[in-house]
Amino acid sequence: MTATFNAIALPGQPHIAYQGSDLMVEGVRLSDLARAHGTPLFVYSKAAMLSALAAYQRGFAGRQAQICYAMKANSSLAVLQVFANAGCGFDIVSAGELARVLAAGGDPAKVIFSGVGKTRAEMQQALKVGIGCFNVESEAELDVLSDVAASLGLKAPVSLRVNPNVDPKTHPYISTGLKGNKFGIAHEEALRAYRHAASLPGLKVVGIDCHIGSQITEMTPYLDAMDRVLDLVADIEAAGIPIHHIDFGGGLGINYNGDTPPEADALWAQLLAKLDARGYGQRQLMIEPGRSLVGNAGVCLTEVLYLKPGEQKNFCIVDAAMNDLPRPAMYQAFHQIVPVTAQTGEGTVYDIVGPVCESGDWIGRDRQLQVQAGDTLAVLSAGAYCMSMASNYNTRGRAAEVLVDGTQVHLIRQRESAFDTFALEQLVD
Ligand code: LLP
Repeated sequence: MTATFNAIALPGQPHIAYQGSDLMVEGVRLSDLARAHGTPLFVYSKAAMLSALAAYQRGFAGRQAQICYAMKANSSLAVLQVFANAGCGFDIVSAGELARVLAAGGDPAKVIFSGVGKTRAEMQQALKVGIGCFNVESEAELDVLSDVAASLGLKAPVSLRVNPNVDPKTHPYISTGLKGNKFGIAHEEALRAYRHAASLPGLKVVGIDCHIGSQITEMTPYLDAMDRVLDLVADIEAAGIPIHHIDFGGGLGINYNGDTPPEADALWAQLLAKLDARGYGQRQLMIEPGRSLVGNAGVCLTEVLYLKPGEQKNFCIVDAAMNDLPRPAMYQAFHQIVPVTAQTGEGTVYDIVGPVCESGDWIGRDRQLQVQAGDTLAVLSAGAYCMSMASNYNTRGRAAEVLVDGTQVHLIRQRESAFDTFALEQLVD
């Protein structure tokens, strides 16, 4: 097969594309960025993030809706700043994420705090800065939160995360709305939990939420989950507990490899039609999208170190590894890998692997590429759950990050040095 750059179909959106043989992010050549900043290097397109956000904003036009970016997908300060400036709130899961929101100029009143294991100290910090809502995941957590809030003389705004028992049809590790997951309060127990919440002195019930999983590529699980949640809203309000907002979580998938998730505005057209039909169209709505806002806005650049032909496999060894891009090792996830300068000619089939000492350290399997040592490759769809999940395994400093805005390039995170990785450690006397 002859691979030419014309044949390379890139997933996602128009801000990362070939111009001639050069792969560009907006107006910037990726080969130039690799030369200037070294590799591995994450590169994000601001326009791609804003256009992903715009699809949600179009979907919610004329409604009362708050988009809370689920920052676990990519929590780099400058990325948070882009979303804060665009009016987003944030879905957080730790005091560390709260500190990042504040450092990036986010509004704490637009923050919702999710997660099954919030500590008392985290609750205190969030209450003191006046966060918008705690998404509570168990009855035990209700008691602790009430206690913490009452001791500060406050009432904590709470929403209960209910588990609608809907199959999101995604990878089991990122499916969260089924019975048997650690997340949320079972549908059958939700009314009791709401009565309990309403009786506690340190709580003020404000909402209901659900989140059924991630990388969801079909509409039906969302529609089913919405029905289940609205049934509960009716029961809870009939019990005399008003529900101010309804939060439908995140989870919308992106195109990694020919995946065809609905566009955010198309999805919400369907969901809003259901809300209207059931009489809830004028409620305050919240959503917590992560991957769909940033996933296809980022690439990871990596240099080919060695080609290692073998009897069974050819290996293309690159300088990015599972510590930079953990998704293939953790979920057998697929990311497209393309050269930043398109090549013509016969390709060879390689496994693209990193330098980490684990057989699980692979980035792509059986990829046909025309490459040689010294070339730069781009791992696509790397804006979500890559840098935010990166580690220092094998004492590898984490990669640098660059935000592109038109033809402007901003270095938003310096490359970590080996010294940075052990700066907090101590020898013993
Ligand atoms: N809200 C809650 C409560 C969540 O747990 C999550 C993601 C989100 C919102 C955002 O979901 P998204 O829109 O990004 O799908 N590391 C995995 C994904 C883990 C998702 C965890 N929760 C991956 O790389 O595929």
